[in-house]
Amino acid sequence: MCTEVFEQRNVCLDQILAERRSHRVFRQEFPAEDEIRPVLNAGLLAPFAAAAVGNSKDYFRRFFVMKRGSQSLNAAMPLVKDQVIRMAEGLEKDMEKNPALRAKAGMFAQRLSMIRKSGIVPGVGTAPYYIVAAERKGFPPVELQSLAHCMENMWLKATALGLGFQLVSVTSQMSTDPAFCAILGIPPGTWELMGCAIGHSEDELSPSIRPPVDEVTRWLE
Ligand SMILES: Cc1cc2nc3c(=O)[nH]c(=O)nc-3n(C[C@H](O)[C@H](O)[C@H](O)COP(=O)(O)O)c2cc1C
Repeated sequence: MCTEVFEQRNVCLDQILAERRSHRVFRQEFPAEDEIRPVLNAGLLAPFAAAAVGNSKDYFRRFFVMKRGSQSLNAAMPLVKDQVIRMAEGLEKDMEKNPALRAKAGMFAQRLSMIRKSGIVPGVGTAPYYIVAAERKGFPPVELQSLAHCMENMWLKATALGLGFQLVSVTSQMSTDPAFCAILGIPPGTWELMGCAIGHSEDELSPSIRPPVDEVTRWLE
């Protein structure tokens, strides 16, 4: 391939990396399923822990697409909300006993408490699509790392297609919830989960701001 093509690819990639942002307010309209499918395919192209998941014929990565207003999402929403409430209550109790945790987890506890008060879990029913990715549990247990790669690929593809993307990390807490897993049609506790919300973003966000790379890098001898 000629240098010019590499340069063009590099410019495009840098642009997508810089434009990838967390979108949290979505327009009502549904992107077409044909816009969502390439995003899922990008997730499928992400690396996986080959030694951990083995070579079973039953493929180890799955996607579950729930549309706003659908029966599945309407059933999932209260389950995720209940999980957030349980997390908030558990964390508050632990923080009472543990001042170090109180100092460290205060901001997260506040966020859980806000979600609890509003009754709305950001990304679950607030966007046209709530998508759950699942990775079958293997050994060593590295499914969540694999899912992070999967999500990043999906995020970058969504950005390239002009779609807004929001991670919904509470989804990982749903992997052992029997009712939530029943909606997906998987046995509880056998797959790790991660989720995201996708739709057309209401906001145009400026590119990411990060410190200069030399400020956070040490080149070791
Ligand atoms: C492990 C992890 C979990 C995250 N969970 C959520 C989440 O549940 N909801 C959300 O809106 N953003 C979530 N985010 C997104 C971060 O808040 C976001 O990436 C960060 O604030 C930087 O903003 P940017 O994505 O716009 O660059 C998560 C990010 C990571 C890496």
